[in-house]
Amino acid sequence: MASTSSTFRITPSTAPLSAEQRQQQLQSIQFGRVFTDHMAVVSYRNGTWQDPEVKPYGPLSLSPASSVLHYGQAIFEGFKAYRQPDGSISLFRPDSNSERFNRSAARLAMPSIPQELFIGAAEALVAIDQAWVPSGSGESLYLRPFMIATDAFLGVRPSEEYLFLLIASPAGEYFPQGLKPVSVWASKEYVRAAPGGTGEAKCAGNYAASLLAQAEAKEHGCDQVIWLDAIEREVIEEMGGMNLFFVYRDGGAPVVVTPALTGTLLPGITRSTLLNVAGDLGYQAEERRLPLTQVLNDIASGAISEVFACGTAAVITPVGEIKGRGFAQTINNNENGPVAMALRTALLGIQRGTAPDTHGWLHPV
Ligand code: PLP
Ligand code: COI
Repeated sequence: MASTSSTFRITPSTAPLSAEQRQQQLQSIQFGRVFTDHMAVVSYRNGTWQDPEVKPYGPLSLSPASSVLHYGQAIFEGFKAYRQPDGSISLFRPDSNSERFNRSAARLAMPSIPQELFIGAAEALVAIDQAWVPSGSGESLYLRPFMIATDAFLGVRPSEEYLFLLIASPAGEYFPQGLKPVSVWASKEYVRAAPGGTGEAKCAGNYAASLLAQAEAKEHGCDQVIWLDAIEREVIEEMGGMNLFFVYRDGGAPVVVTPALTGTLLPGITRSTLLNVAGDLGYQAEERRLPLTQVLNDIASGAISEVFACGTAAVITPVGEIKGRGFAQTINNNENGPVAMALRTALLGIQRGTAPDTHGWLHPV
């Protein structure tokens, strides 16, 4: 695809961090806390996207009546830029994020943004802030595109004006404890998404609605929530910011199974990537309905040997324990499992350019 980053007007920061200050920030990276010197901004008015710009990272000025602040028209994405062995930088599957962003936009009655602008924003931002792309193992530059409704109007209807922004944040491990199994709480009280709702869109409201259940998980000593379906409160869907995989071993090659897409869970790009990578590694991969009771029985009997979560921020994170009201089930002795680790190594190898990119997922900047 032709690069469009040159269409972005560039206004460099007059006060970027010094190389030494930046190095200090990159030394102990905490997910989502530090941002690079610039951001990309494109505005939508009169039915078109206009004034693509890369400018110094900084506060936005919005009317207090902006519709995003009242009715929540806000969507976002997450993808990463990886340092390659030759020092160059590649984005991972930005076209898939662009497509999902526009599906989320359609669900929230927001305008779609052309892929050239979406990817062009990432290319322009990564180019100017390239010194921020870390090179350590498991490290990357996390890119966060988002769109908000900016009409200063209190009537309930789709906004006519929007802002698209892209900010960037150096990333290491998502969970503060590093690469160790997480414990998860299967919530029966709260529901993330119902049929016909916004579950498969990456909209801000889905995350706001998840926070109370996340707090409940913490109260029970768990790191994350497992969401169940809204009707039966029994079929496993996904986690707060990750999809789930279950590894079945029946003597032969491992079979990795993930919940089928029902319209109420996010169609993760890491999920789709792993369904392919599993095949590359000689595993069988399946998408199907996974009732919690069945999964707990299969863990107890040893039919399921590993459970892991996956997502852009979390990469692959093993799940060591599933808890809920009246049950607690440990998985693989609460240790990282071999299939999750093999998939993680294969995935990071492709992303970091140390393994061949046979699927054409890397997008050089
Ligand atoms: N599910 C939810 C709710 C998420 O927020 C994410 C993160 O983006 C995922 C799953 C994983 O999606 P992806 O692999 O595209 O990052
Ligand atoms: C991602 O993995 O990109 C996410 O959006 C997950 C989380 C940080 C919300």
